[in-house]
Amino acid sequence: MKPVKLGLIGVGTVGASTARVLKNNALEIARRAGREIEIVHASRRDINLGMPQGNENIVLTDNPFEVVDNPEVDVVIELIGGYDPALQLVMRAIENGKYVVTANKALVASHGNEIFAAAQDKGVTVAFEAAVAGGIPIIKSIREGLSANRIEWLAGIINGTGNFILTEMRDKGRDFAEVLREAQALGYAEADPTFDVEGIDAAHKLCILSSLAFGIPLQFDSVYTEGISAISTDDVVYAAQLGYRIKHLGIARNGEKGVEMRVHPTLIPEKRLIANVDGVMNAVLIKADKLGPSLYYGPGAGADPTASAVIADIIDVARSITTDPLNRVPHLAFQADQIVDLPIVPITEVHTAYYIRMRVDDIPGVMADITRIMGENQISIEAILQKEPEIGVTQATIIMLTQKIFEKQMNRAIESISALETVHGDIHRIRVETLDAD
Ligand code: HSE
Repeated sequence: MKPVKLGLIGVGTVGASTARVLKNNALEIARRAGREIEIVHASRRDINLGMPQGNENIVLTDNPFEVVDNPEVDVVIELIGGYDPALQLVMRAIENGKYVVTANKALVASHGNEIFAAAQDKGVTVAFEAAVAGGIPIIKSIREGLSANRIEWLAGIINGTGNFILTEMRDKGRDFAEVLREAQALGYAEADPTFDVEGIDAAHKLCILSSLAFGIPLQFDSVYTEGISAISTDDVVYAAQLGYRIKHLGIARNGEKGVEMRVHPTLIPEKRLIANVDGVMNAVLIKADKLGPSLYYGPGAGADPTASAVIADIIDVARSITTDPLNRVPHLAFQADQIVDLPIVPITEVHTAYYIRMRVDDIPGVMADITRIMGENQISIEAILQKEPEIGVTQATIIMLTQKIFEKQMNRAIESISALETVHGDIHRIRVETLDAD
């Protein structure tokens, strides 16, 4: 069979690794794909930087539109990220009848519905395994491996940079900004690292996972998003004293009232496997009705792990080029006409437990006032920790764990407690999930 010819857009961390791995593992890859796969045209912003060693013969341009318009190219590999010009390039590649492989989660989460519709009309595929959880084959697992099941919920550590930062802060007491710089140097972080620390990157990925799991349209704007920038070392220490770890989770649930999609720091019992996923590693825990719980673990970012997922997609696409376009695995796991718009549960209606930390005057009656307000809001307290004031200080820190309640109850209670004269500063709240698979 003729070799499959690739056009590579973006020769940064992942693009360069993709070119290298395609060369280094060419034999293994061809044995699997049933044909050779070669990059014939590439684009990068600064062509003076050239191509990675061993790929110098590839035609290089600084105009990515030349790559998508090259009639020799069968598959366009989009690895530049962002929306502009990534969206125009992907749409033009589809219009030109080319297959596309992308690692661009922002693009898929925000424009996937129109991209997949256009691809379906043209009879081509847009593959995006590398968009979620780096090298873990999570898209394939959900889309194909779990296709007999009704997926009830999933919870994932889906941002490697954030998990790397939290782990280094916890284990080595390192400074947030310093660890973030290291994550950037290691090629984990997004071009704009606020996407990592403010939860936007995880929200893109959760949006994609939710569509695949529940058969709903991609809807990034419906994901409730909080990052890790407000987590303090104190919270990490107190959570540990209560038997929990703090992880930045993406959680999606298909319940009676609709679909929950939320990304936020979360306390999880330290004995859960997922609580022990550290560093740049990602993990996704999925509760499916027939399989039960299953956990997918691996490197969530970095050059070679991400290239591994990109190339798996390239091989899939190479195999599918000669197959019937109407009988391929659907982009979003469910047949396009079976995607259903389910109601989205607002965060105020989410039912979960809470960790609360507050600073109060160390005088009689304060605890009574706080527990009275909790009671008035039908909030049952699971555990209380009071930290002795430091010498010469008249304020103490109180930490509470609640039982499961609706977020709106917690909001009302926090508003009333904040209004007490004996309570000082912000009341810090972190949601608590037990992730029981029962
Ligand atoms: N910045 C992302 C992360 C890269 O840290 O997870 C992989 O999507």
